[in-house]
Amino acid sequence: MSFLKTLKISAALVALSAGGALANDVEVLHWWTSGGEAAALNVLKGDLETQSIGWQDMPVAGGGGEQAMTVLRARVTAGNAPTAVQMLGFDIQDWAAEGALANLNDVAAAEGWDAVVPAALQRFSKYDGAWVAAPVNVHSTNWVWANKAVLDANGIAVPETWDDFVAAVEKLAAAGVTPIAHGGQAWQDATIFDAVVMSTGGPDFYKAAFIDLDPAALGSETMKEAFDRMSFIRANVDSNFSGRDWNLATAMVINGEAGFQMMGDWAKGEFLNAGKVPGQDFLCFRFPGTQDQVTFNSDQFAMFDQGGVVSAEQAALATAIMSPSFQSAFNVVKGSVPARTDVPNDAFDDCGKKGMADLAAASASGNLFGSMAHGHANPASVKNAIYDVVTAHFNGEYDSETAVQELVTAVEIAQ
Ligand code: BGC
Repeated sequence: MSFLKTLKISAALVALSAGGALANDVEVLHWWTSGGEAAALNVLKGDLETQSIGWQDMPVAGGGGEQAMTVLRARVTAGNAPTAVQMLGFDIQDWAAEGALANLNDVAAAEGWDAVVPAALQRFSKYDGAWVAAPVNVHSTNWVWANKAVLDANGIAVPETWDDFVAAVEKLAAAGVTPIAHGGQAWQDATIFDAVVMSTGGPDFYKAAFIDLDPAALGSETMKEAFDRMSFIRANVDSNFSGRDWNLATAMVINGEAGFQMMGDWAKGEFLNAGKVPGQDFLCFRFPGTQDQVTFNSDQFAMFDQGGVVSAEQAALATAIMSPSFQSAFNVVKGSVPARTDVPNDAFDDCGKKGMADLAAASASGNLFGSMAHGHANPASVKNAIYDVVTAHFNGEYDSETAVQELVTAVEIAQ
């Protein structure tokens, strides 16, 4: 650690322990704008307030963070990078490769991050041996959220297999209930596709197609079957699905207007924010056929280099994010699970406890995979190429046969 860096970090810690305010606010760019997300963000803001760390909010609405990343690029190009940015997987690596991110190694070493952050996350938090981001959580995309009263009223048990799911959906449709709440936005279509591909082909197939980008897997009969399953899902959403925000789709399940939503566990934040109780009002279960697998994404805060050293505010923010008690308090509200392995599950509800247990089990059995839809399988260029094909198929532009061919070509061109 250089003398100057040591001095800066120590100065920050002295200021904090003395209860003094830091000179500058942290400006945080993020996309947590739904009710549940804002509630979780307030846990972070509140935590920083108690430490006299000022907060300048830079929200950019848009689930999955595509719009936030566009705004970020414009800010950096204009020479006005925010202090800290919510970021996913390969985007962190891309910005680090550009030399834009501050090196957090001193804070990480002082606090022992290496020992408590799982390797699957470190793969994205570190670039070239340097910590460049602080992970705040682990989400996963292969979940289904259901309205319990709607399922009970229609005699539907939690579906275990794709065939069970088809039967449940058909029952709801026959009863005049919208079976599936969905928002027709590319990232939401892709979020469902993560789970459908895993369920259709299994973990080896998911890895071959989305992690290894093997053209034989991308162009296979199994992939065609996955697209056919997407067509079934498309046939069972309501007619106003196009462009709908994900949290409005969650609200349809909360209000009993729809039976199921396939969405990452940020959806749980919406149920909790509406005062709903897991097991009582709503059910959380793994997408049928993916009970042993987890397709994950992790929100991390990357600190933009403000001139060679980590600023006192950035160091303080990173420390706050990585504190075990904060990771518990935040993730209980957000719907995600802690990014550290040493946080107890006591404060978590049943869905959170299941999320933590599933993550540990999938990691131990080699069934933990990065989410394609949320930037943990490939860089943005490939992710966006897959999005385009999945969405075009979902909206009827391609039949499944054509979609498979387009997928192979699009992925090849994007690499
Ligand atoms: C993020 C979540 C967020 C969700 C919807 C995901 O990419 O990881 O934190 O809640 O997008 O906005």
